[in-house]
Amino acid sequence: MLSRVRSATPRLRALKLQQSRVKVVGSCSFYSTHSPNTFNTAVETAEKLVQPPTESVFHDPFSIVSHEMSNLAKSIANLIGSGHPTLNRVSSYYFEADGKNVRPLIVLLLSKALSNIPLEQRNRIKIDTYDVTEQPHFKGTPTKTSVAGKSVDDSISPLRILHGINPKVILDPLSKPMDKLPQFDAMNGILPKQRRLAEIVEMIHTASLLHDDVIDLSDSRRGRPSGNIAFTNKMAVLAGDFLLARASVAIARLRNPEVIELLSTTIANLVEGEFMQLKNTVMAPNGNNNIINNDGEDKSIPEPTGKVPTKQHEYCVKTPTQTKEELDHLTNVEAAFEYYLHKTYLKTASLMSKSSRAAAVLSGAQDDVIENCYDFGRNLGLCFQIVDDMLDYTSSDAAFGKPTQADLKLGLATAPILFAWKEQPQLGELIGRKFSEPGDVEIARRAVEKYNGLEKTREMAEDYCRRALKNLRCLPESDARSALEFLTNSILTRSK
Ligand code: FPP
Ligand code: MG
Repeated sequence: MLSRVRSATPRLRALKLQQSRVKVVGSCSFYSTHSPNTFNTAVETAEKLVQPPTESVFHDPFSIVSHEMSNLAKSIANLIGSGHPTLNRVSSYYFEADGKNVRPLIVLLLSKALSNIPLEQRNRIKIDTYDVTEQPHFKGTPTKTSVAGKSVDDSISPLRILHGINPKVILDPLSKPMDKLPQFDAMNGILPKQRRLAEIVEMIHTASLLHDDVIDLSDSRRGRPSGNIAFTNKMAVLAGDFLLARASVAIARLRNPEVIELLSTTIANLVEGEFMQLKNTVMAPNGNNNIINNDGEDKSIPEPTGKVPTKQHEYCVKTPTQTKEELDHLTNVEAAFEYYLHKTYLKTASLMSKSSRAAAVLSGAQDDVIENCYDFGRNLGLCFQIVDDMLDYTSSDAAFGKPTQADLKLGLATAPILFAWKEQPQLGELIGRKFSEPGDVEIARRAVEKYNGLEKTREMAEDYCRRALKNLRCLPESDARSALEFLTNSILTRSK
């Protein structure tokens, strides 16, 4: 079966994939059979629901970019060597374990799919000789005089300046040239800048995980003790900072201001998203200025002195008036969903969407393609995080590789509980106090079961999945595009 489908044309494969998806979606009907389900039965059934259907495993998206993917950790290691052995240990810790690597995989597959657009139609930027080093794939007329000037491995400032303290030891932290691409790889159309982009994206993501585990008081990640446990909070935070700093140097060396702006914004967005999660303004009980910390304890924060104006960002989410009398349930649920999706974009979809856009910018593709690539990453990212929030309710720790059922305990109101809140207004109080009182978590879980919160969450993820698949149609049909379609569907059906 597998080999038969592998040899099918991309269009046929996509069709087969769609058929297998229909099967998965069809199996959702268990929720409508109103049997007296216990919560555990619902969870068990939901677990089955998120197992990828075996028939659809016809195409391994890794295989198309296997060379780049298998060298990812090694290439990143070249970018993060420091002068301190312990810093080296901490900052490479998460790269040692097998992560999903979904972000670099998206960048690489998209880059490959973009390479199927004829070079004549990719003239939005000048692709220079350094961009296409030894890539016979490019038969066009690359220019030697573009803004890029040099390769992703060349420093912009003199190395003696970058090194600073001992200019005699001229050691460029990012000096190790990328492995020479073997011939088959040189033919694959992925530009060195796009390959570096994939590495940068994984570095930013990993930095955010090191910080996130400190914030979430996590104890495991990728089946091992998390960085904060293995090394201490202080070292984990510093290693995250270091990864970000090295990623920033690599970003600068892409020598494309548009891409620098995009990637720098993803870093700001990650922090904004995490802050939205930390201080859930929409659902703060009295709209007051207090922080409820992870232990459910109320902590007041200092009043501003007024010396520095605090500016709201243009994409700040409105906070509805929150006095008890004025509470309009549905308006509040709607605002909470808006807040949730906004946070989800910033926390997860921003990096996927802006790096997808960056891959398209680097390819030289036209504006409409760039927009679709951005929307693809955005829809895929939203789908990814919504599924993650669903799996938090349904998976076991061992299957997920990190602690599950953690969101409610951390006081987080994600899609499943918001759907339940819509039907049961009393849950608002529990959400407001971040499930901090004894029994709150259990009540919330039962409400999710009673009001089909998981099924509704899944439908929401499916909607974003469909939109992402539609965005991919801006690209010419190819194996890489089929692999992206497969990846998109498997994000929806993943179990970890
Ligand atoms: C995982 O979320 C965390 C993120 C996707 C982003 C975290 C961002 C920060 C901590 C801001 C700092 C950012 C940088 C770039 C240093 P999760 O807790 O829902 O997932 P998990 O279950 O995998 O922990
Ligand atoms: Mg976390």
